[in-house]
Amino acid sequence: MHIAEEVQKRKTFAIISHPDAGKTTLTEKLLLQGNLIRSAGTVKGKKSGKFATSDWMEIEKQRGISVTSSVMNFPYKDYKVNILDTPGHEDFSEDTYRTLTAVDSVVMIIDATKGIEAQTIKLFKVCKMRGIPIFTFINKMDREGREPLALLEQIEEVLDIETYPMNWPVGMGKRFLGIFDRHQKQFVKFNGNEAESYIPYDELQQAEHQDLVQNATFQETEEELELLDEAGDNFSLESVLRGDQTPVFFGSALAPFGVQTFFDTFIDMAPNPNPRKTTEGLVQPEKEEFSGFIFKIQANMNPSHRDRVAFLRVCSGKFERGMSVHLARTGKTIKLSQTQQFVASSRDTVEEAYPGDIIGIYDPNAYRIGDTLIEGKEKFAYDELPQFPPELFKRVTAKNVMKSKQFKKGLEQLVQEGAIQLFTAYPMESYIIGAVGELQYQVFEHRMRNEYNVEIVLESIGERIPRWLDEEKVDTTLFDERNLLVKDREGAFLVLFKNDFALRWFQDKHKDMKLIDLFEVN
Ligand code: G4P
Repeated sequence: MHIAEEVQKRKTFAIISHPDAGKTTLTEKLLLQGNLIRSAGTVKGKKSGKFATSDWMEIEKQRGISVTSSVMNFPYKDYKVNILDTPGHEDFSEDTYRTLTAVDSVVMIIDATKGIEAQTIKLFKVCKMRGIPIFTFINKMDREGREPLALLEQIEEVLDIETYPMNWPVGMGKRFLGIFDRHQKQFVKFNGNEAESYIPYDELQQAEHQDLVQNATFQETEEELELLDEAGDNFSLESVLRGDQTPVFFGSALAPFGVQTFFDTFIDMAPNPNPRKTTEGLVQPEKEEFSGFIFKIQANMNPSHRDRVAFLRVCSGKFERGMSVHLARTGKTIKLSQTQQFVASSRDTVEEAYPGDIIGIYDPNAYRIGDTLIEGKEKFAYDELPQFPPELFKRVTAKNVMKSKQFKKGLEQLVQEGAIQLFTAYPMESYIIGAVGELQYQVFEHRMRNEYNVEIVLESIGERIPRWLDEEKVDTTLFDERNLLVKDREGAFLVLFKNDFALRWFQDKHKDMKLIDLFEVN
């Protein structure tokens, strides 16, 4: 009973957006509403450098970006909110994708002046594939942006999802007057630097609002709204929860304007922790016994200790510090005593946690990404985390051959951690690593140098298209640099094609060979 109540309170989500769309600003405003921080400007500290959850990495400081996803939690109304931050930089890594496996919904921020941008599409596709409900916040309405209808059309077309505007903006930029809140049937008035005000629809005709109501932009928008009511899609929470429809909110994170309306509606509609798939069927969050899975491992959060922290999503039961659990992969019993909870600006010891919560557990080099931890005797494992298609490939060697032992050790551990993906050229063995973004290589190089004391040489072989072969033996003479034959960690053969043309050419010539795109089905 107690667990069920806690589950009902949890809302765990990620914010996804293209860099500069306003993720940091919106997160700050949400934290302000949750009274978690006193003033805005402390979340990422682009300039002040205050937010130091992951300041172990110099790259992060140098480039002013949040490389590693962090987690924040705060109470809001009757809820307990968990926000998982996803790196907002262009060259994000697989961590970004994996974070999406640990949330129950996402908020997608779109910059009204730019519309949908490349990175949003990539992350969005992963959400769509996994059926994660998506809520859209169209930001920067205080600036001259694209027409709202054009923005909705673009979302529908590019992302292939139905849209339902929860509110509708009146003007934009200098002419921005506010929004019609279609959900709560009120007009939210934009007062520039002053706080927004709320006018219920049936009070709009009162004398004091005549200036507003007589305004030409307001009147035009009223007509637009009628059209939308008649011709637009109907709102369906069921479709939203299936990931087929996205509620759209317009506002300005900076002002802030429309943030409260957005968040109040979002938090009521966003799903609570759902049952999750395991090898033994669905596991309900209300289940008595604790269970969860590890979606991320981060090394060296504290440079003075060489510690590793595994990020675990609680999926069922109650976590209590010091409890004993078993690791599904090995059956080994582990006592969870060193645990952390992530708050906006610090890491505190966590004593208990419930489904939807994210905890950090000390990792004595025992865990792997995707590992399941369970209390009690039952045996099951949460669905394997999908691997994401690496796009960039590089050959890697140790600068100094005398260091080959450390080189191999570092490589092995970082691959196990999921920092990069490893392939071996065949038959002439050489290591090739694959990554989703360039940043992963920088992190890899940095960690090899600092944690394993090895200088490495990376030689790019460019973007590649990986296709697996369904055979145990292959004729190595069919392959060359354009269609490079390699083995993955499990020893399966795959070909790294130089481009689409090389792939088609090969397929035409060898029709009998089956080429498998392992990532298509994820
Ligand atoms: P990100 O985390 O998604 O990368 O974006 P961030 O919040 O850092 O915002 C990027 C820029 O856009 C910032 O300006 C921020 O002030 C601005 N911004 C965010 N929301 C709004 C909005 O609703 N309206 C307007 N007009 N601007 C907005 P900057 O000059 O790059 O940085 P800063 O000096 O303000 O920190």
